[in-house]
Amino acid sequence: MALVAAAPLLRQARREGYAVGAFNANNMELVQAIVGAAEELGAPVILQASQGALRYAGLGYVWALAREAAWSARVPVAVHLDHGTDFAQILRCLRAGFTSVMVDGSSLPLAQNIALTRRVVEIAHPLGVSVEAELGRIGGREDELAVAAREAFLTDPDEAVFFVRETGVDALAVAIGTAHGHYHGEPRLDWPRLERIARLVDLPLVLHGSSGLPEEAVREAIRRGVAKVNIDTDVREAFVRGLAAALEADPAESDPRKILGPAREAAKAVVREKIRLFGAAGKG
Ligand code: G3H
Ligand code: 13P
Ligand code: ZN
Repeated sequence: MALVAAAPLLRQARREGYAVGAFNANNMELVQAIVGAAEELGAPVILQASQGALRYAGLGYVWALAREAAWSARVPVAVHLDHGTDFAQILRCLRAGFTSVMVDGSSLPLAQNIALTRRVVEIAHPLGVSVEAELGRIGGREDELAVAAREAFLTDPDEAVFFVRETGVDALAVAIGTAHGHYHGEPRLDWPRLERIARLVDLPLVLHGSSGLPEEAVREAIRRGVAKVNIDTDVREAFVRGLAAALEADPAESDPRKILGPAREAAKAVVREKIRLFGAAGKG
């Protein structure tokens, strides 16, 4: 049984200079791919479900799949709500048994973001559940938010100090120029900003929109205090490519397992690659 809170995993990662991979899952095969890859590499891992995932599969199914994977895993697994914007839904995840939640008040004015985040911390911490919050706005596809990359606001380092002190969060998602989904052209990340945030904020920092980043950029972010790296797009694309290849190899295939099995393997290969890149292999 290896269902654990995220905060201790992330604190250790920041201390030791690596990052825990946080991968989005929407179905059983993705859950198995993520936890299977982590087990093969002896790495801690975070299984995360977006609001879209909860809508697609239902909280009950998502939780049952994630809990089973975590309980039977030989490595520590945290089960996390990704970009929670709805207070009631965050409460439902806490009641289900999630060990970590992200409260995303990034579209709110600062005072309201602080108030919402603090309210979640006050409820989650006595239950042993970790809380991630977002300050600034990360560009690209976001649940229920469409933020054009150029309009996204980057995290202000001094505001970050204030935010962390006022809310008591365990991890902070920072906006330094990453965007969800695909990059059009080379992403330009604000390294001095990340450096300054990391110097002022002694918490694990979270990098969203990490698919498609050059490997060296990911390593650089980890060197500068990022301890949780979120990946969705790269894994979902590998899954779909695996699925398409299986169908192409035999268009008459009518057994879903013969299509979903290869898709699961393709997703797992990408998760393995990312965990190695993050330096988390052998840390579980
Ligand atoms: O940050 C967003 C995640 O990639 C989730 O995407 O809402 O399509 O599940 P989704
Ligand atoms: P990508 O889809 O760009 O990897 O972003 C994932 C993410 O940030 C989930 O919160
Ligand atoms: Zn995100």
